[in-house]
Amino acid sequence: MRDIRNIVVLTGAGISAESGLRTFRAEDGLWEDHPVEQVATPEGFRRDPDLVQRFYDERRAGVMAAEPNAAHRALGRLDAEFSGDLLIVTQNIDDLHERGGASRVLHMHGEALSVWCTSCDARHQWHATLRDGPPCPACGEPAMRPDIVWFGEMPYRMEEIFRAISQADLFVSIGTSGAVYPAAGFVQSARDHGARALELNLEASLGSRFFHETRLGKASELVPAWVGEVLG
Ligand code: APR
Repeated sequence: MRDIRNIVVLTGAGISAESGLRTFRAEDGLWEDHPVEQVATPEGFRRDPDLVQRFYDERRAGVMAAEPNAAHRALGRLDAEFSGDLLIVTQNIDDLHERGGASRVLHMHGEALSVWCTSCDARHQWHATLRDGPPCPACGEPAMRPDIVWFGEMPYRMEEIFRAISQADLFVSIGTSGAVYPAAGFVQSARDHGARALELNLEASLGSRFFHETRLGKASELVPAWVGEVLG
């Protein structure tokens, strides 16, 4: 790990599981009792905006009630102490990376604590609910939606992500099932550019075969141990 100068970390719901936030595809996963097409697509929002607003009001409240765990804090330590380049690309909509001390974080699927006005396009930090149609602070219209990338929408800042991956010499995937693209394809891009690929996950993922090394276990144990190796 000594000669690593440029790290890209991809995280998924598994890194926040031990903070009490549900993952999506486990047997008790979020998508079990909230069909994706109803709550995580633009069509679902058009069909039943109240259902979708309530779903994300619940996610937002859950995020605010959660605390970063040892894995988030270890990545915060890496961010503070690693002298090379580091980018944490997260599929998660929680702010636990930031509250765990990381600053170089990119939310490719949006953020639970951000809302987006469909009338004036403004985005706002938001810790309240949207179910009652509050007026947009910028334009006054009751037209705000969750600032979440839904299925069928383009993830955020993809060019920046692929540029970072093309320059990485280490790509680390933490707590993701490798079920959803484009994130699930990042490991192959990293390897195409000569990066080493490490996976830290509770169980083998759909992408495990693309990694040089997969370590199985809880993020709260695997991530601090790995950060300790990198910081030597
Ligand atoms: N430590 C490490 N890994 C864990 C832990 C844990 N404590 N608990 C669960 N995991 C792993 C699971 O084994 C699984 O592989 O985390 C992964 C979670 O997978 P998903 O529930 O599919 O979540 P994720 O991969 O983040 O989903 C990607 O899909 O639905 C969309 O937008 C949504 O961002 C999400 C994307």
